[in-house]
Amino acid sequence: MAPPRGQPQSATVRFAHESEEEFARILDFYGVIWEYEPRTFPLEEKDGRLALAFTPDFYLPDLDLYVELTTLKQKLVTEKHRKVRLLQERYPDVQIKLLNRSDYLSLLAKYGFGPFSELEVAGIHEVLISAAELERRVKELGAEISRDYKDREPLLIGVLRGAACFMSDLMRHISLPLTTDYMAISSYDGEQGEVQIVKDLEEPLAGRDVIIVADIVDTGMTLSWLLETLRLRNPASLKVCALLDKPARRLPKVPIDYCGFVVPDKFVVGYGLDFRQKFRNLPFIAALKHGPPR
Ligand code: IMP
Ligand code: MG
Repeated sequence: MAPPRGQPQSATVRFAHESEEEFARILDFYGVIWEYEPRTFPLEEKDGRLALAFTPDFYLPDLDLYVELTTLKQKLVTEKHRKVRLLQERYPDVQIKLLNRSDYLSLLAKYGFGPFSELEVAGIHEVLISAAELERRVKELGAEISRDYKDREPLLIGVLRGAACFMSDLMRHISLPLTTDYMAISSYDGEQGEVQIVKDLEEPLAGRDVIIVADIVDTGMTLSWLLETLRLRNPASLKVCALLDKPARRLPKVPIDYCGFVVPDKFVVGYGLDFRQKFRNLPFIAALKHGPPR
């Protein structure tokens, strides 16, 4: 049974796929009432027995509309089209809409349950990592760190500003006593010049189990400098947890002990990452249509 209006339904339903959960959250965000797989339609019988049936993903009672998502395997799409056609033949009064991957992604980019101006939508090329995928993976990383640092008290160092979202989500999935601190550094600009510390740590590192929490390792120059700099402060151990790894552009070899996702050679934004200070508040990771010139 659907919970009362105003309460997110998506928290109470078990979905078969993440894309379904995400779609449900968009509906929740817009206050659209929905039911998940409420009805199975018999489509074909053979020898008096049911041979084919179809259970659309969602039903939106206010619109009297069934919605089927086809965001998954492209080869299943043809079969879905056939089922939808059969359903329409057999139940002409039933309204159903197939939502394909590009419909769905533009919907996500447009309504991605975050504040999003039309201008920003136009700049987004595609959603690479959805909010649900981020949530699941950050949870896993937290569990892994909790296991590895059992009986210890790690010091998490968030690298500003890109790691802000990742850091605040990650720490809540680490079930250990811990300390946090933040550091801001000027990005490595590819010139001879050193990376500058814009804001230094307040915590001493000597004898502590330190984990650097970073947004993305791209060329690896920043991280390489950071590791060298922090090692001089004599921590008991020094590890790296990076949300994203973009190995295509790597220069120095740098260790990434905990890695969220490997991303292709595209300029990515969202979930803390920016392009000219914009897009940090997107709840997902997206690729820009026109990345910065390189
Ligand atoms: P690196 O020194 O090249 O590894 O990159 C250091 C910093 O550049 C990262 O911490 C990010 O803040 C920024 N950066 C690199 N690649 C991207 C990207 O694709 N999107 C947004 N920021 C990036
Ligand atoms: Mg940046």
